[in-house]
Amino acid sequence: MKINDNSVLASRPALASEIGKVAEVAGYLWEKGWAERNGGNITVNITEYVDSSLASMPALGGPVEIGAEVPLLKGNFFFCKGNNRRMRDLAVDPMANGSIIRVLADGCSYEIIADSAVRPTSELPSHLSVHNWFKASGSPCRASLHTHPIELVAMSHCGAFLGKDVLTYLLWSMIPETKAFCPRGLGIVPYQLPGSLKLAQETLRQLDDYDVVMWEKHGVFAVDEDIVKAFDQVDVLNKAAQIYMSARAMGFEPEGMSRSQMAEISEVFHLPK
Ligand code: 13P
Ligand code: ZN
Repeated sequence: MKINDNSVLASRPALASEIGKVAEVAGYLWEKGWAERNGGNITVNITEYVDSSLASMPALGGPVEIGAEVPLLKGNFFFCKGNNRRMRDLAVDPMANGSIIRVLADGCSYEIIADSAVRPTSELPSHLSVHNWFKASGSPCRASLHTHPIELVAMSHCGAFLGKDVLTYLLWSMIPETKAFCPRGLGIVPYQLPGSLKLAQETLRQLDDYDVVMWEKHGVFAVDEDIVKAFDQVDVLNKAAQIYMSARAMGFEPEGMSRSQMAEISEVFHLPK
């Protein structure tokens, strides 16, 4: 990862290491083929790494509306992938393809403070609504990821998979680890306009019950304590989707683990469902 001498990361190793995880994951997303052009976005709440001199840095432009109300994020700081920026570029130089923003006291606007005025992702309403909900619910989650995993998106084009918990059980049943690492499963948000408040609101509703949310015919949204763990959840679910599709390509419907085998996993690993 490239860090310029005049970057705010240059003298802040803990913050640099957190943003290094973003660069690491951005590289994985590109290698997986889940990040065509500017596809996908990442935000991380970095407030705990912001010292007083970074906190008081002047804005690099006027306040901008977030597009959602996030009152619990007042005074919080986020690293955000830039709008229209490529994951493959974020992997190499995160501060040139993303920026640090401060949420303002009105709880509905932000300003960019570093390193340069890279406008944050168009999915900011969903990302910040979700970060606001972490605060409201006392969640330890600090990172959110939206990406376009090929097999999961392909499956979302089939109405039969979109019924409540259909895809969750199907994916869990493909390989035991899926349930162990994604124990609350995959929620579904019917198609909504990218970047819209409606998409943000529906995503929030699903995250009450599920670890990862599918945006029909678009992608997935995952949250976790850090961005590497959020990536892992999508990776595990998409692997299960690939196993299902490989079986179908060989000409048979995979048997899948039985409900009692899945219940045994929950019991042994003390999982929520
Ligand atoms: P951004 O370039 O604004 O992050 O948009 C990418 C995307 O995947 C929108 O859903
Ligand atoms: Zn997208």
